[in-house]
Amino acid sequence: MALSRRSFSALAGTAALGLALGGSGGPGAPAAYAARSVPTGPPPPEPHADGRPHTVGFDHYSLLVDGRRLVLWSGEMHPFRLPSPSLWWDVLQKMRAHGHNAVSICVAWNYHSPAPDRYDFTGVRDLDLFLRTAAETGLYVVVRPGPYINAEVDGGGLPGWLTAAPGTARTADPAYLRHVDTWLTHVDAIVSRHLYTRGTGTVLLYQIENEYDSHVDEPAGRDYMAHLYRKVRRDGIDVPLFHNDKGRNGHWVPGSFDTGGEKGRWLYGFDGYPSPSRTPPDWGHFGTGGRTGGATASPHTPGFVPEFGGGWFDPWGGVSFRGKGYAEARRTRDAAYERRFHLTNLANGITLHNVYMTFGGTSWGWLPAPVVYTSYDYGAALDEGRQPTDKLVPMHQIGHMLQRVPDFAKLDRAPEVKAAGLTTYHLTNPDTGAHVHVLRNDHDKDVTSTLPVGGTDLPVTVPARDARLMVAGLSLGQRRLRYSTAQPMLLMSAGRQDVAVFTGWSGEMVSLALEAAEEPLVTRLDPDVAYVYDQGLMRVTAPLGGGRLLRMLVQGDGENRPLLLLFADEAASVRLWPRDTPSGSLLVYGPELLRTAALRDSAVHLTGDTVEAAGLEVWGPRGIERVVWNGGAVRTSVSGSASLCSAAPLPGVPKVELPPLGGWRARTENPESGPNFDDSGWRLADKSASYSTTEVPKGQPVLFADDYGFHYGDVWYRGTFTDSTGIEAVELAYSTGTQGLLMAWLDGEPLGTHRMPVPDSRTIRKGSWADTAVLPVRPERRSPGRHVLSVLVRRMQHDQDGRAQDTHKAARGLTAASFTGASPKVRWRIQGEAAPDPVRGPMNNGGLFGEREGWHLPGFPDRDWEAVDFPRAERRQGVTWYRTTFPLAVPPGIDASIGLVMEDDPSRAYRAQIFLNGWNMGQYVNDVGPQHTFVLPNGILRTRGTNTLALAVLSEFTTLSGPGRVRLTLLGAAAGGVPVTPVASPGR
Ligand code: GAL
Repeated sequence: MALSRRSFSALAGTAALGLALGGSGGPGAPAAYAARSVPTGPPPPEPHADGRPHTVGFDHYSLLVDGRRLVLWSGEMHPFRLPSPSLWWDVLQKMRAHGHNAVSICVAWNYHSPAPDRYDFTGVRDLDLFLRTAAETGLYVVVRPGPYINAEVDGGGLPGWLTAAPGTARTADPAYLRHVDTWLTHVDAIVSRHLYTRGTGTVLLYQIENEYDSHVDEPAGRDYMAHLYRKVRRDGIDVPLFHNDKGRNGHWVPGSFDTGGEKGRWLYGFDGYPSPSRTPPDWGHFGTGGRTGGATASPHTPGFVPEFGGGWFDPWGGVSFRGKGYAEARRTRDAAYERRFHLTNLANGITLHNVYMTFGGTSWGWLPAPVVYTSYDYGAALDEGRQPTDKLVPMHQIGHMLQRVPDFAKLDRAPEVKAAGLTTYHLTNPDTGAHVHVLRNDHDKDVTSTLPVGGTDLPVTVPARDARLMVAGLSLGQRRLRYSTAQPMLLMSAGRQDVAVFTGWSGEMVSLALEAAEEPLVTRLDPDVAYVYDQGLMRVTAPLGGGRLLRMLVQGDGENRPLLLLFADEAASVRLWPRDTPSGSLLVYGPELLRTAALRDSAVHLTGDTVEAAGLEVWGPRGIERVVWNGGAVRTSVSGSASLCSAAPLPGVPKVELPPLGGWRARTENPESGPNFDDSGWRLADKSASYSTTEVPKGQPVLFADDYGFHYGDVWYRGTFTDSTGIEAVELAYSTGTQGLLMAWLDGEPLGTHRMPVPDSRTIRKGSWADTAVLPVRPERRSPGRHVLSVLVRRMQHDQDGRAQDTHKAARGLTAASFTGASPKVRWRIQGEAAPDPVRGPMNNGGLFGEREGWHLPGFPDRDWEAVDFPRAERRQGVTWYRTTFPLAVPPGIDASIGLVMEDDPSRAYRAQIFLNGWNMGQYVNDVGPQHTFVLPNGILRTRGTNTLALAVLSEFTTLSGPGRVRLTLLGAAAGGVPVTPVASPGR
């Protein structure tokens, strides 16, 4: 049943006044925003599956959850890029601790569907488990199940089998819609169990298509969007829906397609990946640009960026357009980038933020789209090995601020206040009178200026290409802040006192002024924090630096509660952890991470991580006497600011030792290249028509791998013919993604290898790659009788379909075969991947002999393989496998993140697929790069036990081939972590 407007109002009750009035959107929507009637107030509490119904509405300022304003500070992660469900806890807890209140996920159709009408949501694909984990972590979830996600995955998420199916994808073509509906039925059955509206989960928003800009003004597009909208509603998804507009086109604003009469439940969202070297653009409500200005396209919905670039993807390396590795993405989009761009978004009225990516993860197996390699680290705030980076500092500070300073949920533009040399934005909250100033430095040098605030000319310095936020007229508990040059991070009550945290850069002197009719009593807990009282103003200065948390306690009096002022530089701010519990709020300071906090009896039970030894300090509700850290009692004393302080530091992480890798066993394969290989079980390639966008060459059978049900990884062809007497050369036309290649043999003798040209900066965006290998046949190979031409194509992945042109349907594999000098009739057989691995899924394996025979699996009997040492230097065309096992004994309670490093002379033309305990952890291409380190996620990696490593090495004949140096590396370690359940890794 489609939910009607009436049922929404009933559901929403009076609390969703904003929904009923303000969010109706579309042409002619009421100009009087409900916002006027939804005052600034405390945000909704941390979300959980609390069993109670909730309303989710919005007005043009912000989301309204149960009628309370919510600023969404969301980070993107893709569960399918972290194939170890226990580690979802880790990443989500880190996001939550670092100030995010939401996680946004893509759900990739191809990851869950190995064949038409077959769907798998078990094991590493357990969406239900992910949604439960997010709810238990206290995060809202934004769900984005495509059908098309892009996201640098194979086919943009469209399943491989769809390439061989009728119907134009991403249109209202009924043949396509039938499949889409099946997919959505499966996803929605799970998602609808976790809706925040029902209190059974924390799903807050739902995206129905991604960057859909090709058929905007055509029925094929409008009907498609209307179909998706209605389908999702029919499936019981009752939270606001949205689309992510590619850039700022004003596409799919409210009213632009038929939502079945339903109004006010559709948000306009747009994405942005601005160049870090450019001036941050004004894309929110306060910018100009109308339909193409971002949020200005939809004045009645809140400013919403479903994807804002928090990094960027890196292409394969190569000669002319070299992927530089993710350190470069993190360098160009560093912490200052995040601060400069996010504060600009905030200053433009964006209140729904999602950063793409916050944890990028790994495009393991055959997941990556042709444009990227295995690592999808993205230069994100949390790196691929789950380690926090400096980029978390601004995210942490801004995220906590947006959740704990309610004034930010409702801001209007205010008259300009200038500071020479800086770009300034001035906003004010119409209810509280608080003022917000964002000052941005667009120059390459630090700028020192003055900003007139509250009758004072405040000196301000903004570092080069950075930004700062200042406030005035803000309530700090019962006291009022006249101004602050430091950025507020937290306002909270802990026990008897209010606590306010302010942040700035190490090395700067920050100042603030509190209004006080009479001079308050002050306890200077740090001699460096100074103050003067003069005519109703208490002016405080604090020199930030050294990772110190500076404190000053303004004592309570008859009218005011005590106010603890805390000042933190970057390093200190990311060790401050606010938490709310049913018995009151806590502020924890010291360790590298706080995962969970609970109050029981008179004790506060904390779990978290330490790397270095760290002190522990807790401000909490009255009656707290004891502190327990990771299950162990901590001896504490009470400080002058009413905190419990650990008597001794919490220990850091002990050194983690990793074993060397040795004991390798080797075995060559590709028997398929030999003339006598039995291919009678292979599919005959005899089709004459295809749904591919690649034309079937005249007079040839269809050779495209997808048409025979082979969608991922390598594919073999064997062509049998009679009489090669006149053949001078074989011409093999083929089509692959970036970095594809082809190898051919005639009667078991190598004819050569052909590689797809390496894309350069002009051609990288062209997508599919097609070329023809012309391989000469030497005279001694020409003879009458039976001959077999064997061809192996590493076809890489399907193109994405960003422009809705069915580009995922471009052929993969051989497209045509012909000969010069003769034209024998060839009978082709084809073999790709075997039936999908029931646990690891359809994208784990391609069609190499060893993969079909289970050589990648733990327990495969390799005792009779040749014992070898690395480095290797072999000359051979074809596939060689190397296997070894290695034990790990990481102590319990230690989270060690481990990677595999492969290095060699970069001129050697070979590549390797890396199988850990049977899981395909990616593809190393020695002479292309740039990736040399492959993350081995715990769970798949047995950190206490034995692991099986198998390398499937594909070597060209032109150079010597490795592997060269292969070793384990420690990507990070912490005392703490999450309990890790082993990921099922069936063997032989
Ligand atoms: C966006 C797209 C994402 C991803 C991103 C680049 O345009 O919506 O799915 O592809 O670009 O990483």
